[in-house]
Amino acid sequence: MAERIEVLLTEEEVDKRIQEIGDQISRDYAGKQVHLVCVLKGGSFFMCELAKRITVPVSIDFMSVSSYGGDTKSSGVVRIVKDLDESLKDKHVIVIEDIVDSGRTLSYLLDMLRSRGPLDVRLCTLLDKPDRRVVDVKVDYTGFEIPDEFVVGYGLDYDQKYRNLPYIGMVKFE
Ligand code: IMP
Ligand code: MG
Repeated sequence: MAERIEVLLTEEEVDKRIQEIGDQISRDYAGKQVHLVCVLKGGSFFMCELAKRITVPVSIDFMSVSSYGGDTKSSGVVRIVKDLDESLKDKHVIVIEDIVDSGRTLSYLLDMLRSRGPLDVRLCTLLDKPDRRVVDVKVDYTGFEIPDEFVVGYGLDYDQKYRNLPYIGMVKFE
């Protein structure tokens, strides 16, 4: 199926918002160290940009869970594809996500991470589609709330394509 990409959020808008979140996190964690847990692959672009703007000490780790096939609908099945390298014990953890949609993936993931002995776990997402929520998830830092559109760019893909777009686009199917 042919698709067309329409700009939803420009590169400037996204960059500006990431700076604001970086400032906020730096204030909230003043005097502490934060441990950023990036949910691959989608969260990676956002995490790198955000980490550069946080002024308190930062460590990073990556994990990969899968709830999606090559389709645009959540299956509700969450599988750990790659686990973290480091322990979360006594760390201030911030989970970095690209988007919260149904909330199924995050709800599962946050419960699992909280059981590993961190001091606290917060959630930071670049995008949130509140209209699509099925499972209640508390989001601590949100870049943008967006309408129920399938979006790509800044790490988000459609069938593994478009992750490298420097802006957020909506996928329009012709
Ligand atoms: P959830 O479990 O339904 O909240 O799904 C979360 C995951 O689905 C995200 O981390 C994305 O990988 C993927 N996803 C949800 N909505 C979109 C979208 O609009 N574009 C691309 N990926 C999406
Ligand atoms: Mg994701």
